[in-house]
Order: sequence, then structure tokens, then C-alpha cells
Amino acid sequence: MRYRKLGRTGFDVSEIGCGLWGMSGWSGSDDAESLQAMQIAVDSGCNFFDTAWAYGDGKSDALLGQIIAKNKGKRLYAASKIPPKNDKWPASPRDSYQDVFPAAHVFEYAKRIRQNLGTDSIDLLQLHAWDDGWTSDPEFEATVAKLKSDGLIRYFGLSLNRWEPNNGIRALRTGLVDAVQVIYNIFDQAPEDRLFSVCRELNVGVIARVPFDEGSLGGKLTVDTKFPAGDWRGGYFGPENLAATVERVEKLKKIVPGGMTLPEMALRFILSNADVSTTIPGMRRHGHVRENIAASDAGGLDAGLLGRLKRHRWDRTPKLWSD
Ligand SMILES: NC(=O)c1ccc[n+]([C@@H]2O[C@H](COP(=O)([O-])OP(=O)(O)OC[C@H]3O[C@@H](n4cnc5c(N)ncnc54)[C@H](OP(=O)(O)O)[C@@H]3O)[C@@H](O)[C@H]2O)c1
Repeated sequence: MRYRKLGRTGFDVSEIGCGLWGMSGWSGSDDAESLQAMQIAVDSGCNFFDTAWAYGDGKSDALLGQIIAKNKGKRLYAASKIPPKNDKWPASPRDSYQDVFPAAHVFEYAKRIRQNLGTDSIDLLQLHAWDDGWTSDPEFEATVAKLKSDGLIRYFGLSLNRWEPNNGIRALRTGLVDAVQVIYNIFDQAPEDRLFSVCRELNVGVIARVPFDEGSLGGKLTVDTKFPAGDWRGGYFGPENLAATVERVEKLKKIVPGGMTLPEMALRFILSNADVSTTIPGMRRHGHVRENIAASDAGGLDAGLLGRLKRHRWDRTPKLWSD
């Protein structure tokens, strides 16, 4: 496993981190299997874990807390997220900062997350939704400053809305944001246009999330794939998106070099970009952990393949089903 700096936090984070959403929010999860997968990840050098209160109402924070407690001798970095008070994804410019992240709400959830993680101070606390129109609300700055001065968090981050990578740049320019979490993968290349250069300029860490486009770049979806009722992916890979996605994935499969798999190519595409600090695949299966971590050891892709992958960029705009 290779490591990179998470921007100005100075944390040396593993190139392959671990995303916990699926472990607590999707069908097909088993806690014992998830805990084992995380332990294998730790044993293989993974030290960065992304969770959120919203993943099972504190469940994934608590699963991560168990792993932290079991590995006291190792420095594991925990990133979690404050849920929007109005429970709305994506964030809407029609709502005010006060509607979504009033101070009492932020401090209450910071307390709950610390309890579930079993840590005094959260390494990276992110807001789970963001609209740049909220940047000038004085309570935003006051809240971040107090979270830090009270020692409740070490660093502060924003998780940007799906397919809106530029809706956060104003906030980054305040200097309050130490790391940003954004969707970046073979399809979603738009963060390269503006966001990444701003992060480089300000030394803000970049967490590339959803490296497999919620699973399509794992290569197993077909036009007949169905998800059980209540599984968020049933909406995302619904009638408007599933067939179009499968068609694009099939085109990608044709250019995977011999000896490489599609998921490996997907991760190595992301890691080829030096602006990325870490990527956080959802990996709740042992086999996936081993495969994904091997992608870090294999390193970036060659320029020829990267050039071909540029042509697979797919710019999308938020839809009712996409969050
Ligand atoms: N708003 C936000 O802040 C936000 C939103 C979304 C995600 N996130 C974070 O980003 C993390 C990653 O995103 P995600 O989990 O939604 O999606 P993802 O990482 O793009 O995809 C996860 C899917 O990929 C599959 N997979 C993993 N490794 C694989 C491999 N080697 N080969 C084939 N398939 C593989 C998993 O299979 P299985 O189903 O078998 O496990 C799962 O279905 C989340 O866990 C969460 O921490 C944050």
C-alpha cells in the first residue's frame, strides 16, 4: 500500500481507503463480514475510513469504532459526516445554512459520532451536503472554529453534492475547509476542470469517493439487475440510468488491457491523478479488499490508456433518482 498526504492535515493516508456506506445502508451486508473485511484492510495497510452518521443512524460509526478499539497500536484515521438537519440530499440553494446545519445540530451529532467512534477528537468531520450559497453565513465559520478550539475535531471537510464538483469552491477559499470529498471516477471526470487545481493551490486534501460509480465499474451489472426494495441502488440504477450505464461499461470492458480487471483499471485511473489524496471504495467483502488494495501497489496507468479513458467521461446533472 502506498500513502499520500491528505492536504494540509498532514495525515499520511493510504491511497485506498475504505468507504462504509454499503456496510450499514445497503442490502447484502453482514456485520461480521464487514468487520472482517475492515480488519483485513487494516492488516494490509489501509488506514483511512469514511463513515457518516446517516449510514444506518450511527451504525457505521460504531462499526468503525470497534475496528479502532481493536487496533489501538495503529494510527487509523476516521472521517465521518454530520447529517443535514432537514434530511435532504442533495443540498438545495432554497434552504438556508440555518435550516440544514444549525450549530446545536452540528454539536449534537459531533458528540454522538465521537461516542460511536470511541474517540475524543474526530480526525476529519465533514458536512454531508453543501451549497456554496451558505459560505457567507457567519455561523459556518464560528461553528468550524469552535469544533476545532474545543478539540472535538482535528480537521474539517465538506462532502460535495453528486455531479456538482464546483459547488464548494467558494467555501474552500475561506480557508476553513481542510479536505473535500467528491465523486471522481472514469465516468465522472469533471473535478479535473476546476476543483482539483483549487485544492492544489490551497493544499486541501481530496477524497475521491464512489470510485466504481456505485458498483457499475465493478463490471457485474446487467440490464436485468434488480435491487431489493429499500436499497438505494434500486433508484440509482433505475429505468433512466441502468441500461445507459451498462452500455458504457460494456464499451469500457473492451479496452481493459490483458491481465488487468475493470475494477483495477477504475482504481488505477483515479490514483493516476496526483491531486487525489485517497479513494474510498465501498469494500465489505474480503476478496474486494484484497483486489482493491493491490491496485495501489500496481500504481498509475500509462499515458496511452489514460488518454483512451478520457473519452469515457460522462457528464451528468443531478436527477431526482441520483441522491
Ligand atoms: N454524499 C456522500 O458523502 C457520499 C455518497 C456516496 C458515497 N460516499 C462514500 O464513498 C464510499 C464509496 O462509495 P460507494 O460505496 O457508494 O460506491 P463505490 O465504491 O463506487 O461502489 C461500491 C460497489 O462496488 C463493489 N466493489 C467494490 N470493490 C469491488 C471489486 N474489487 N470488484 C468488483 N466490485 C467491487 C461493491 O460490491 P458489493 O456490493 O459486493 O459490496 C459495491 O457494490 C461510500 O462507502 C461512502 O463512504 C459518500
